[in-house]
Amino acid sequence: MTKPSPNSFEKEIKNSSRILKEKIGEFTPKVAIIFGSGLSNFSDEIDQSQTIQYSELDGFPEPVVGGHRGELVFGSVGTTPVVILRGRSHFYEHGEAHNMRVPVGVLKQIGCELLLLTNAAGSMDPDSSPGSLMLLEDTINMTGVSPLFGVVGDQRFVNMTNALDPEINLLIESEASKADIPLRRGVYAWMTGPQFETPAEIRMLMTLGANCVGMSTVPEIILARYFGLKVVALSIVTNQAAGLSDESLSHTHTFEQAALAGPRMTKLLKNFLKNY
Ligand code: HPA
Repeated sequence: MTKPSPNSFEKEIKNSSRILKEKIGEFTPKVAIIFGSGLSNFSDEIDQSQTIQYSELDGFPEPVVGGHRGELVFGSVGTTPVVILRGRSHFYEHGEAHNMRVPVGVLKQIGCELLLLTNAAGSMDPDSSPGSLMLLEDTINMTGVSPLFGVVGDQRFVNMTNALDPEINLLIESEASKADIPLRRGVYAWMTGPQFETPAEIRMLMTLGANCVGMSTVPEIILARYFGLKVVALSIVTNQAAGLSDESLSHTHTFEQAALAGPRMTKLLKNFLKNY
């Protein structure tokens, strides 16, 4: 019987974690945050201690989508130590779902407990209009791929029930309600992109029980559970999904709308992180 080859990404995780630990010393981030389109300015809101470029590390992606930089920002919100990943890699860039495997593995290695993901999404929920926020309680993977393709070992059979942490979702809802920020729950459908969906695809997703749709986040949720991190995810609704309104969908539109909702997201995240 042939011996399974070791998962080569483990070496990259080890290397990158060592490089980071040499730089951050005793600092142990409790929460890691990966921001979606137009939201990475949140790092200006935290008490920053250090910024490290992805290019200094092993196995980190080179983000190419506008608005995503490619750096880790370490700092604090209140007394909560956090690390922000500015820049994520999407499946549609190279047709590979595993590009965030090393970064998420490194987050676990450097001591993070929780991964908080944000994204821009189209809404299929008539009550969630552009500019509103949605808390993800479940996901539908419409892409046919997994970031765990090729991974060896039983750990790859990840349990996806309650993958988005139910208890932390309650905490986020409680912070939203205290700050008077409307927050609906929803199921997020992951589509490959980069093209937006057709109206017929959106009707299909609605039939399947999805409330919003986007091109990211699900790979990182799967990876977080694989590596043993808790995970939660928030969407900024930037548009009604294709065919549900007259607005014309574009990347520029996504950015503009995400920026409009940015202050609300920032307030919610700050309040949640301070008290976590
Ligand atoms: N579809 C997919 N991704 C998106 C959308 C959408 O309507 N809006 C923002 N990101």
